[in-house]
Amino acid sequence: YTIKKAEYLLSAAWTSQWPDESLPEVVLAGRSNVGKSSFINTITNVSGLAKVSGTPGKTRTLNFFNVNDELRLVDVPGYGYAKVPQKMIEQFAEMIDVYLTKRNNLKGMVLLVDYRHPPKEDDINMYQYAKYYDIPVIVVATKMDKLKMNELKPHEERIKRDLDFDENDTFIRFSSLKKKGVDETWDTILHLTGL
Ligand code: GTP
Ligand code: MG
Repeated sequence: YTIKKAEYLLSAAWTSQWPDESLPEVVLAGRSNVGKSSFINTITNVSGLAKVSGTPGKTRTLNFFNVNDELRLVDVPGYGYAKVPQKMIEQFAEMIDVYLTKRNNLKGMVLLVDYRHPPKEDDINMYQYAKYYDIPVIVVATKMDKLKMNELKPHEERIKRDLDFDENDTFIRFSSLKKKGVDETWDTILHLTGL
């Protein structure tokens, strides 16, 4: 997939600010610090498109990115970050819930998990939530470069087992550092969006 254009569109704090439903969207979810912003920058090949933060939990709104005027990537706040006040967590959870259940142009979810560790309860909940609402999921295992070759397969199996992974979904070994998994990610996104 050739990226001719990739641009930040808008950040939305509530539904009235969401763009129209004319383009297919893929939503990105994952724990804070898992590498979501890096993932966006890597697959669009635009460094600095999404902010990569040393401080976890920076993303606090739904952030929409336009790709080739053909589809949108939607970055949701990283979950599992304890220092965010409970009230804020609830508001974001509600917005994400509305987005996942009501958005007509939502074609799938990219769930980013840290390849090095078994998925956390938040990850499992998010995956099962998507499955409950019949949302196809691409599980992207990030920071693959931090694992040894012989760890890749057992870690993949552990993640799939803990998630109760649906074999109709796709699992992608990914590294922003080494730019691994980019083509496979786009193949899967294009398949989901019907492009
Ligand atoms: P929040 O928006 O704060 O929730 O974080 P995020 O999920 O967007 O993560 P971000 O892309 O900001 O990356 C977090 C940290 O992980 C940064 O220090 C990145 O440089 C690092 N990182 C991201 N992807 C990779 C990767 O593939 N390999 C390695 N080694 N480090 C990575
Ligand atoms: Mg981020």
